[in-house]
Amino acid sequence: MAHSPFTELLQGDLKTLETNLRNVLGPHLLEKDHLSLLNLACGRGDETGVLAKLLSEKSSSAHLQGLDIRAAEIGQANSRWKKELAEKKASVDFITHRGDRLLDLAEIGTPDIAFLRHQNYWNDKPVWTRIFDQALERLHEDGLLVITSYFDKEHELATAALENLGAIQVGSIINPNSRALSDAPGKSVDKHLAVFKKK
Ligand SMILES: C[S@@+](CC[C@H](N)C(=O)[O-])C[C@H]1O[C@@H](n2cnc3c(N)ncnc32)[C@H](O)[C@@H]1O
Repeated sequence: MAHSPFTELLQGDLKTLETNLRNVLGPHLLEKDHLSLLNLACGRGDETGVLAKLLSEKSSSAHLQGLDIRAAEIGQANSRWKKELAEKKASVDFITHRGDRLLDLAEIGTPDIAFLRHQNYWNDKPVWTRIFDQALERLHEDGLLVITSYFDKEHELATAALENLGAIQVGSIINPNSRALSDAPGKSVDKHLAVFKKK
């Protein structure tokens, strides 16, 4: 099937994300019979295939749960990924819910990974502080929290907020090939990626 130039750009972004996750998250992600990942503020969850692949390499079964406040994007994520991953080891489920009300959701359990691509901390610090705090609380005791950021300053602020909540950074990378976006100066795709563990 022919791909549009935009689809090719997205695929390039995902390839780079996969490489950086392998390099930065990979060494900390231990093999387990089952691995679970919570993708917070996931939007359409474009990166779900990459995440499912990485988890499936380290486990016999994996479950990815995605969550966002935008119902339309969650609908797209469910219809795309439930179909695309139907024959794979990894199962997926996306729900419309607030990440800052995570503690209301018993079904989240204790994920091995909390993942936040293009976190939006500086847009609403109180809400995102609650999202980070509740993600850390939910996380398995040996779990890992991963963020990516579009902007340098935003990444710096989010890192400081997470460390203030007791998270310990165990790895990070600045993406030298991050694709610049024209809607804001200094904004580029997955420019920063950092991995944290719980204290
Ligand atoms: C910068 S976008 C990133 C989306 C996606 N992770 C990506 O990389 O394309 C931030 C996302 O946060 C979501 N969001 C904002 N506030 C939220 C909240 N309180 N709970 C859950 N999601 C939220 C938005 O709907 C949006 O999808």
